[in-house]
Amino acid sequence: MNDAFLRACRSQSVPHTPVWFMRQAGRSLPGYRQLRQRWGVLELAQTPELAAQVSLEPVHLLGVDAAILFADIMLLPIAMGVDVAIVDAVGPVIDEPLDTPDSFARLHPFTPDRVEYLTNTIKLLRAELNVPLIGFSAAPFTLASYLIEGRPTRTWAKTKSFMLTNPAAWNQLMTTLSDAIIGYLQTQVAAGAQAVQLFDSWVGALAPEHYRQHVLPHVQRIFKALESQKVPCLHFGTDTAGLLRDFAAVDAQVIGLDWRVDLASAHQQLPGKALQGNLDPTVLLADTAVIEAEASRLLTSAPKTGYIFNLGHGVMPDTDDRKLKHLVEYVHAHS
Ligand code: CP3
Repeated sequence: MNDAFLRACRSQSVPHTPVWFMRQAGRSLPGYRQLRQRWGVLELAQTPELAAQVSLEPVHLLGVDAAILFADIMLLPIAMGVDVAIVDAVGPVIDEPLDTPDSFARLHPFTPDRVEYLTNTIKLLRAELNVPLIGFSAAPFTLASYLIEGRPTRTWAKTKSFMLTNPAAWNQLMTTLSDAIIGYLQTQVAAGAQAVQLFDSWVGALAPEHYRQHVLPHVQRIFKALESQKVPCLHFGTDTAGLLRDFAAVDAQVIGLDWRVDLASAHQQLPGKALQGNLDPTVLLADTAVIEAEASRLLTSAPKTGYIFNLGHGVMPDTDDRKLKHLVEYVHAHS
């Protein structure tokens, strides 16, 4: 069992710097692309044998130090009764957004029986894997933004104006989503997930004061509730350079960073936390020499313990998997 990833999460010594890539399962890999000609993303995720196959592909092909469950952040609202479609070239779409206080009544409480397929995928994966398995969920802000907007956005204007205009209803929505997220992640750990990552991909849209007032208490409650699970917790967001001092106040052992911040500066603002990141994913579209120079720069500036090499956000769909494999080998050899 290669446990370098789990040891780095706990800021323990490691034989080499562990590396995995956000969105490594799916998107750019050939086996996944082939499966996608026959199946939709949600169908794949809800069929344990196929989902396990997709999660295993990067472990076998690239030699990464962790696997991530093949799922999507929108499976949780689906389990709560929301009608979600993943539309090609768009992303998650909800025809009837939950954009009024009354509409939140459409959210059923989370129960594990609604995600039995995930439990089965996790069990299949644990039987096959010799690296740790990461489970995940979206954080409440990112989830709320899809529910309220109904589709991907660049401004989050509906979400933010709802939050500022209806703070009590917003607080109720965040509480409902946080309860569901806690149950959903506990279900994944009970089935065998060995670490969990909370994706707050779009939280960088917020002013720090609004984050502290309307979001942070909910995120803190989620990580507090997960403490009893005894697995490392990772918290990731993009555009969070202005929020890192607040991220320091959550009980996640690892903070995931995008490329808009220097590792050394993040390390200073996050005392006691392990760091994960933060290579700009577009670097992988450049020449091998550029990729090696950038990886070397990160390895030099990273903390000596408690560091996991990753990208600053997901693998870009047109990334060449030979470059990903080369990067894994480079990080292993130079750490
Ligand atoms: O490899 C992995 O990371 C595991 C699987 C995974 C998926 N979605 C499968 C997927 C993970 C971790 C996610 C998380 C996710 N989903 C996030 C948070 C992480 C992030 O990237 O910020 C978000 C915001 C979503 C919502 C979502 N799902 C979007 C915006 C899209 C469309 C755009 C795209 O390609 O990412 C999806 C669809 C989706 N989920 C795909 C995959 C592999 C692409 C499906 C395809 O076209 O083949």
